[in-house]
Amino acid sequence: MLTDRFSRIHDYLRISLTETCNLRCSYCMPEEFPQTSFHQSKRMTADEIKQLAEIFIELGVKKIRLTGGEPLVRKDARQIIQQLSGFTDYEKNHDPVRLAITTNGIFVHDFIDDFKKANIRSVNVSLDTLIPERFEKITKRDYFHRVVSNIHLLLQNHFHVKVNVVVMNGVNDDELVDFVQMTRDFPLHIRFIEFMPFDGNQWKKEKVFSYREMLERIGSFYEVVPIENEKHDTAKKFKVLGFEGTFAVISTMSAPFCSDCNRLRLTADGKMKNCLFSKEETDLLSPLRRGEDVKQLIIGCLQRKHASLGGQFSPTDLPSESHPVENRSMIAIGG
Ligand code: 5AD
Ligand code: SF4
Repeated sequence: MLTDRFSRIHDYLRISLTETCNLRCSYCMPEEFPQTSFHQSKRMTADEIKQLAEIFIELGVKKIRLTGGEPLVRKDARQIIQQLSGFTDYEKNHDPVRLAITTNGIFVHDFIDDFKKANIRSVNVSLDTLIPERFEKITKRDYFHRVVSNIHLLLQNHFHVKVNVVVMNGVNDDELVDFVQMTRDFPLHIRFIEFMPFDGNQWKKEKVFSYREMLERIGSFYEVVPIENEKHDTAKKFKVLGFEGTFAVISTMSAPFCSDCNRLRLTADGKMKNCLFSKEETDLLSPLRRGEDVKQLIIGCLQRKHASLGGQFSPTDLPSESHPVENRSMIAIGG
């Protein structure tokens, strides 16, 4: 089992397949971000992803989520999903792994059958606005209708669908109620995420629309009831009485959930991060290529995990801008 200095058991691995994307969300991808930030040879191949996943599983990982960048822009995304699905098979494994994916939704229609075959039941789709023009402003691309129709396609195919909304003060905070309204007739799970600082993402303290403010806003329109949280939930969950779906708030900035954290991350270039906000990265890919023991590196990296927020800031001591927080940009970490 992967246990850290604070007795937290880590059984959830998020693997970024690529640091590239077909959208350009400013909160994630810095404007000057190169098309390919590192050479192809530095990126994990499909087989290396499988090998590293297997090592993490041997150490106790029970859930894997594929992220990016946009994971589905990788040419071999299908092959990767298919290879990892071997770990989810109930017949082959006595303790199968749960496989999930976070995507911007653009290529979902092309992958529905692959998701089903790979036992992917849960898909998170990022969508920050319900206004087409605003979508184009935020993402710099015109894919709004495709994303919305793919969300419905996932629902029709009985996937558990979460919609991730990064809430930014003055950008889309006026749409909270409209997103909640979507849960009236559809079994959707909306997740409002507090805006977080990453390298080059123009984060400012004033742009954070906090958990408390979100609940106040939504609560003034609807009768909201809390839902029991599951262990390791990073979101505080709610429901409007009588509605099909739910909504939740991920309050990383104002009320982090670090004490219960079970997450590990692997970047597309094969570096392990023990926290979304860790300064430190541990290269696993080069040692793997040299045939060295990666397990000890994973265990060592976890031992250096900080109690909260990578040891970089705290809710009562937020920096005013993102630059004091030493980190990659979100697109290069993997969401
Ligand atoms: N703050 C909060 N959430 C972010 N994401 C990307 N960048 C940020 C940020 N700066 C979210 C995306 C995606 C998820 C993986 O991470 O919306 O849904
Ligand atoms: Fe692409 Fe998601 Fe980043 Fe937007 S937030 S640029 S969709 S990876």
